[in-house]
Amino acid sequence: MNYSVNKEDLVKLGFLNIPVDNIDLNDEINKLKKEKNAIILAHYYQDGDIQDIADYVGDSLGLSQQAAKTDADVIVFAGVHFMAETAKILSPEKKVLLPDLFAGCSLADSATKNDFAEFLANFPDHTVISYVNTTAEIKALTDIICTSSNAVQIVESLSKNEKILFAPDRNLGNYINSITGREMVIWDGACHVHEEFSLERILELKTKYPEAKLIAHPECEKPVLIVADHIGSTSSLLKYTKEDHNMTYIVATESGIIHQMKKANPDKHFIPAPPKDSTCACNDCNFMKLNTIPKLYNCLKYELPAIELDNDLMEKARVPIIRMLEISERLGL
Ligand code: 13P
Ligand code: SF4
Repeated sequence: MNYSVNKEDLVKLGFLNIPVDNIDLNDEINKLKKEKNAIILAHYYQDGDIQDIADYVGDSLGLSQQAAKTDADVIVFAGVHFMAETAKILSPEKKVLLPDLFAGCSLADSATKNDFAEFLANFPDHTVISYVNTTAEIKALTDIICTSSNAVQIVESLSKNEKILFAPDRNLGNYINSITGREMVIWDGACHVHEEFSLERILELKTKYPEAKLIAHPECEKPVLIVADHIGSTSSLLKYTKEDHNMTYIVATESGIIHQMKKANPDKHFIPAPPKDSTCACNDCNFMKLNTIPKLYNCLKYELPAIELDNDLMEKARVPIIRMLEISERLGL
């Protein structure tokens, strides 16, 4: 088969990590932002240079709250696909751009529409709570969405005798069960990054730095959570490092968050929790790290790649997200 590949098209679609011209990309991004009334939302797992140029940096909950309330015409979502999709569902009239369309999520991919629908059919009397790390199709099959910032509170907002099915993260689900005493049915999915942390190597670090506290995201496996001094969403971990008086922390979540931790606590020492495989950097999210400043510039310039979703699907998926936002607002989260 013959392919005719146009370099400009590849750049527009985010396949090439190079700018078209030799220019100061940060300046150009700021100019384009003004020109197009665009806003850049970045997740804590992005590289520091992207976090620094963003209008808002936050966790999944904060980012969806920002996406729902912004009056910008264009949202550049420096994060992964399900996050940009959530922004599009909340603001369908806006253009939502993702610098690299391949910025996916292994956890979201662990629940596919048909398998999930089949699984749900076994539990018809259960309320379905899904983590925001899901595709729009899974959200459309869900009663209430949650993030790691509000998962415990969302579950607790339901009466004690309500039967709950939780998806897709088994570690977060088991953690919520342990905190709330519920017996939620849990979909067997996981994040490849958070399951990579090595308890053995963390304990070695604890021996080397006995004063260090371990802070962990609830997507980590149970043995890691058991030895953690604090468990929480990315924003909760960041807040903890600001309010706590310790000076050294082992951080068991994606290392991008350390950028904000260092900015907020320049005198403190942050050690990324090590992966099981000492030869890889697999405690970094390869999907999050696909986004780069040149791709961000190109996507703002060409307004590509843009998130496109079917209107019916968006309508169905919006209902459980709005429920989450309303419960969160009511609880002051
Ligand atoms: P937060 O909800 O803490 O932002 O985490 C999102 C995520 O993808 C964790 O891997
Ligand atoms: Fe998904 Fe895991 Fe990456 Fe978070 S860290 S975006 S859950 S693959």
